[in-house]
Amino acid sequence: MCPGCSRKYLPRDLGPRFWARRRSPPPPAMAPGCLLLLMGVSCSLVSSIRGAFLEPDQYVGLPEGWKYAGRVSATDQILLTFALKQQNVYKLNKKLDQLSNPDSSQYGKYLSLDQLSRMIRPSDKTLQTVWMWLGNFGVHNCSTVQTLDFLSCFMSSSTAEKLLTGSKFTRYTNGHQTVIRSLAKYEVPEGVSEHIDFVGGVHRFPAKMAVMSKTWKSGPQIKANFHLGVTPKVLRKRYNLTASDVGSHENNSQAVAQFLEQYFHQLDLAAFMRLFGGSFVHRTKIDNIVGHQGCIMAGLEASLDVEYIMSSGANISTWVFSNGGRHESQEPFLDWITLLSNMSSIPWVHTISYGDDEDSLSVAYLKRINNEFMKAGVRGLSILFASGDAGAGCREIRKGVNTFRPSFPASSPYVTTVGGTSFKNPFQITSEVTDSISGGGFSNVFKMPNYQAAAVKSYLKRMKSLPPGSYYNAAGRAYPDVAALSDNYWVVANLIPIPWVSGTSASTPVFGGILSLINDRRFQKGLPALGFVNPLLYKIQKNGTSGAFFDVTIGCHYGCLDEKTEGKGFCASVSWDPVTGWGTPNYPELLKMLLA
Ligand SMILES: *[C@@H]1O[C@H](CO)[C@@H](O)[C@H](O)[C@H]1NC(C)=O
Ligand SMILES: *[C@@H]1O[C@H](CO)[C@@H](O)[C@H](O)[C@H]1NC(C)=O
Ligand SMILES: *[C@@H]1O[C@H](CO)[C@@H](O)[C@H](O)[C@H]1NC(C)=O
Ligand SMILES: *[C@@H]1O[C@H](CO)[C@@H](O)[C@H](O)[C@H]1NC(C)=O
Ligand SMILES: *[C@@H]1O[C@H](CO)[C@@H](O)[C@H](O)[C@H]1NC(C)=O
Ligand SMILES: *[C@@H]1O[C@H](CO)[C@@H](O)[C@H](O)[C@H]1NC(C)=O
Repeated sequence: MCPGCSRKYLPRDLGPRFWARRRSPPPPAMAPGCLLLLMGVSCSLVSSIRGAFLEPDQYVGLPEGWKYAGRVSATDQILLTFALKQQNVYKLNKKLDQLSNPDSSQYGKYLSLDQLSRMIRPSDKTLQTVWMWLGNFGVHNCSTVQTLDFLSCFMSSSTAEKLLTGSKFTRYTNGHQTVIRSLAKYEVPEGVSEHIDFVGGVHRFPAKMAVMSKTWKSGPQIKANFHLGVTPKVLRKRYNLTASDVGSHENNSQAVAQFLEQYFHQLDLAAFMRLFGGSFVHRTKIDNIVGHQGCIMAGLEASLDVEYIMSSGANISTWVFSNGGRHESQEPFLDWITLLSNMSSIPWVHTISYGDDEDSLSVAYLKRINNEFMKAGVRGLSILFASGDAGAGCREIRKGVNTFRPSFPASSPYVTTVGGTSFKNPFQITSEVTDSISGGGFSNVFKMPNYQAAAVKSYLKRMKSLPPGSYYNAAGRAYPDVAALSDNYWVVANLIPIPWVSGTSASTPVFGGILSLINDRRFQKGLPALGFVNPLLYKIQKNGTSGAFFDVTIGCHYGCLDEKTEGKGFCASVSWDPVTGWGTPNYPELLKMLLA
């Protein structure tokens, strides 16, 4: 038996020098120790501490639009986030099932952050092992969160490269933003690997943004026609919100989170409401900005999110989480996730227009982020994600062979995912049809949750023509869950009204605001928040006749541009479908069902 191949790791037996000895990273292509042994390579070639890749399947190529921007010096500071292994994840899952199942006696009996911490905090062994490992490399400048399951530490780049064997930190830029990342995979000692899910700040680049305006894209040559355009007045009319459907409970709150280097201006909100506000009572400012807001130009996405969540969720206290990335080596989305575990008092509804290709993310990362959504759910938070703007998406597996490309977090079973629609007649407030960009499909990683199984199976059975089976995983979590208009919004940014803003980033805050209004009414009746609402949503729709949603039955979204699918992904149909979910909200009926 080769001693280096022992699976055992005993932190107390290994002095600091032992850790420090493994200085030079192994050649990146070299397989971990035991593999070499199996291949007949002498064990003396293998370092005496075996490493383990935490994220062997993470995509580490340079994403489109980014380029090399210079070396990182040995003393430059890197901020790494260690996701420590949680305890009782199974129990957490069970708990969420109970708290969000309307038929359970536990329904709505949400946990405080303290109670959650007691359930899932890492074991003492995990905490000791990781702290000792870091301490042995002189890493002490760390901060943790209330649940103790994330640890963010500053260290020099040379220390980071020693700690994470194989990593090599470099600067990259996309023209607006510079980040530090490693395009080479990292290993941690095997004894440590069982205590960490993944390390943040190494590989993942900031994800692409979703929203766009046709005017911004194609320049001013597009002529205005007398197209309707979506404003708060139009939305409120379509979704049957009357002037008295505004929030009034003092403890209600909602939030938008966003991760681009862009900001929102209070003055834009005032101008927007003046121009498009109509006659409902609304707030004129944001109550809390978490993160930093620069003084630079307002961004389209930021303005859109704020202006529309405050139009449907009118007169409700609104927060903005602004995480453009405080530090070059940070993952902005992860920064937001860790913040949630560090704030005991936090808004009830969060809408987020963000997504990445599921296949580009390691399974370890996907699963852990999914745990984070469960943590939010047991606290009674509703987390809504945009379903994405690429329809079913498309990925070329090899030459001429395509498959659809699901997006994450849209594909997480523990968030509510919002797709997009357009007016059937763009000149009037009419019924809605599929917006062909509306993201939808099936996860390749998460299996279909029980709450949706009947609805999804019924869709798959009902449809006469479906894309070829090799394009999607019919046993996976299917999304979106619901939808709202996503086409031709008006937004005010930098005091300028901008037309034709489109994307599921528009539908998401609209739907989120409506859930907030329903929370408001629930609080007034002494009921708990909606929290993770999917089990309840699928239940009220069980018979397909609740009237809570305007069912969208017309249109298909985009998929792959190939002959096999003729450019189509999935098509909408009566009842639930993976293009527009259950459809768009009919507020009075939805309220009735969700108050019952
Ligand atoms: C931790 O690192 C950050 C970034 O380099 C630095 O600003 C801060 O002062 C450090 N804190 C301590 C206690 O060394
Ligand atoms: C969590 O909050 C505490 C107290 O406010 C703070 O000291 C700590 O730095 C925060 N943790 C992280 C990871 O930001
Ligand atoms: C809601 O809107 C639809 C279509 O605009 C309308 O038919 C319906 O009567 C409205 N009211 C309710 C309570 O559903
Ligand atoms: C707006 O909300 C506040 C509480 O946040 C409430 O006191 C007020 O009555 C609400 N306005 C209306 C018109 O409901
Ligand atoms: C709002 O929350 C505070 C603090 O928890 C509580 O004292 C107050 O009664 C709540 N207000 C309402 C209307 O429930
Ligand atoms: C569905 O219909 C059945 C039979 O009509 C009824 O008993 C049941 O309560 C309905 N379920 C829902 C969720 O409306």
